[in-house]
Amino acid sequence: MRGDICDPAAVREAIGAGVDAIVNFAAETHVDRSIHDPEAFLRTDILGTHTLLEAVRASSIPRFLQVSTDEVYGDVAQGESEETDAPRPRSPYAASKAGGDLQALAYWSTYGTPVVITRGSNTYGPYQYPEKLIPLFVTNLIDGEPVPVYGDGMQQRDWIHVDDHARGILHVLDHGALGEVYNLGGGNRHPNIEITKRLVAACERDFETHVRFVRDRPGHDRRYALCANKARALGWAPAVDFATGLIETVRWYQTNEAWWRPIKSGEFIEYYRRQYAHR
Ligand code: TYD
Repeated sequence: MRGDICDPAAVREAIGAGVDAIVNFAAETHVDRSIHDPEAFLRTDILGTHTLLEAVRASSIPRFLQVSTDEVYGDVAQGESEETDAPRPRSPYAASKAGGDLQALAYWSTYGTPVVITRGSNTYGPYQYPEKLIPLFVTNLIDGEPVPVYGDGMQQRDWIHVDDHARGILHVLDHGALGEVYNLGGGNRHPNIEITKRLVAACERDFETHVRFVRDRPGHDRRYALCANKARALGWAPAVDFATGLIETVRWYQTNEAWWRPIKSGEFIEYYRRQYAHR
């Protein structure tokens, strides 16, 4: 079924036949888009989560898993974010996800709604929408286009392969304690410039020709790093080697142009112009 998570009737219909659990992957997810259009993020990420929580509360569904993000912790200059750290979101996107998380936890405290939350780190792998760093850069490089590195490129992200992230979500769905938050961090921490160098090399392009340092994202978080000990204690661990996963991802985009080319035409061209032309 295809529907809007903000539409209670559509949600009721979707769960009408009975479901074992709800896993909420539905969200507006891109920081840069949230800077241009925050309202869509508030609607889907907060009101949509609320609509799902209401549906769970009115049903006997035993478990609701909220898929969230390390961005809710905000910038961490040093050390690692733990689940007990207060959310300090700094972008409209991160604030909207934190809002959804807090609603979920409030439903657990107030109504005993059976919620559990995962907070994943930056995810990469096949089928990722080409607005995100890795698929944007790979598809630009395949076409011999420049890649826009924000600011000095020394911002650090903690990368996790989509397969590890998916396994983590399933593991927490099966084994996580209700009312709890579990960080799913890949532990592969690299500055963006390092990722860029690897992608340029994997695509056999030239750094000087293809890499452009452009005006930084406003409010750009410098560093994310997740402590994933709690999920590890539950029996999950990321398994994909980063160097291997990254090369395989590049190869996937090289051999699956039929998937991403239609996406990068149409609406995407207008988005790209809006994001990057003035930089
Ligand atoms: P992104 O994939 O947008 O994920 P997030 O903002 O959720 O971390 O960006 C990852 C990092 O790459 C982030 O520090 C911003 C940076 N970045 C660029 O330098 N250039 C780009 O064109 C994009 C999309 C991201």
